Amino acid sequence: MVENTTMEKLFGGTMMSPIVDPYSVYGRLRKEVPVIAVDTMLGVNYLVTRYDDVATVLRDAERFSSRGNARGIGMVMGRTILEMDGKEHIRHRSIIAPFFSPLAMRSSMPPVVVEIVNELIDKFAAGGAADLVPEFTFIFPMRVIAEIIGVPIDDHSAFHRMALDLISITEDPAKGFEAAESLSIYLKPLIERRRVEPGDDLLSKLLHAEVEGHKLGDEEVLGFLRLLLPAGADTTYRLTGTCLWVLLDNADLMGRVREDRSLIDDLIDEVLRWESPVQLVSRETTCDTHLGELEIPADQIVSALIGSANRDESHFDDPDLFDIERNNESHLGFGFGQHFCAGSHLARLETKTAINALLDRLPKLRLESDAGVQIVGMAFRSPNRLPVRFD
Ligand code: HEM
Repeated sequence: MVENTTMEKLFGGTMMSPIVDPYSVYGRLRKEVPVIAVDTMLGVNYLVTRYDDVATVLRDAERFSSRGNARGIGMVMGRTILEMDGKEHIRHRSIIAPFFSPLAMRSSMPPVVVEIVNELIDKFAAGGAADLVPEFTFIFPMRVIAEIIGVPIDDHSAFHRMALDLISITEDPAKGFEAAESLSIYLKPLIERRRVEPGDDLLSKLLHAEVEGHKLGDEEVLGFLRLLLPAGADTTYRLTGTCLWVLLDNADLMGRVREDRSLIDDLIDEVLRWESPVQLVSRETTCDTHLGELEIPADQIVSALIGSANRDESHFDDPDLFDIERNNESHLGFGFGQHFCAGSHLARLETKTAINALLDRLPKLRLESDAGVQIVGMAFRSPNRLPVRFD
């Protein structure tokens, strides 16, 4: 019998470690063991590394169910659309879809995002220097989500603190669980208010929506809210940070993007492929099945490694090269299939707005000379810091 390996043996760290280069390991796995069984604290996890196999896992919900998310992220979120399949998933997802639609991104959302982004830049614009990660990228997507949910403006900073603790669940589980509880305590009176006096925010919509003739219970509403925080904030800040780092590290590209802002769309897609902010998504096998050359028993956790699929040489030419001119339409940075990211249009709008505002408002934006920036992480990846100067 072949012995399973461990994350430590493969990567020299765990899923949550500040791993600098997972890509050489992914490359070896794609070539030698494209589907590999790994022992983890939560049991055996089958890592899937090739583009075609990752796409199969995400497309085939009959064999690879999203119910596996209940065992990981669901432990703090509660039951959310991330762990639902089939019709139940479609019915619940359609409640929030209008808030993140292309129409909303063209009409109600741009002024909200522009205002939040500029308010944050106002705080450091006169100082000539800032670390864009803690002072900007980390904060603005959280503020946008608070606004969409309908958190009153006076509560934004308290809400932000709880939300930050919630998304620190990966580094500090005790703090994360405590924050999930505090967030529920904070949100309950707001839920009661919106039940009686609905507004046009997402929370009111969740409270008054019906799924098969039934309104959602408090726990279901809370689950949605707890999901949207990390889904909407912990991801977009990473995409924005990596886009900025790529520009700050490449004067020629920075010059071209300054001149022609339409290139920001290509930049965003190439970053989603080349340094996918979300590197993996989980599924659970519903039956004994096979993938690549491996037999996987029923009820096993499968990790579809988006970050590896997006660097697969059989799908993308010279995949380690960052090239905004390449054809990368088929990247899996926002996932694939039924659970394709519900907030992809918002993430694009936020990132584009942030880059445009920084380039417009901070002349000669450049990295500090000894910046020491690294893109780190395994499950999620982004720059650890972005210390910059400007005139
Ligand atoms: C760069 C930013 C983002 C990235 C890279 C990203 C990535 C992803 C990925 C890979 C999935 C698929 C999960 C799976 O298949 O299990 C997903 C799902 C989801 N994302 Fe995003 N996301 C981003 C931004 C956002 C934003 C701004 C929102 C809005 C609040 C959002 C809301 C969601 C939701 C609700 C789901 C679950 C969809 C479902 O289960 O049907 N995401 N995201």
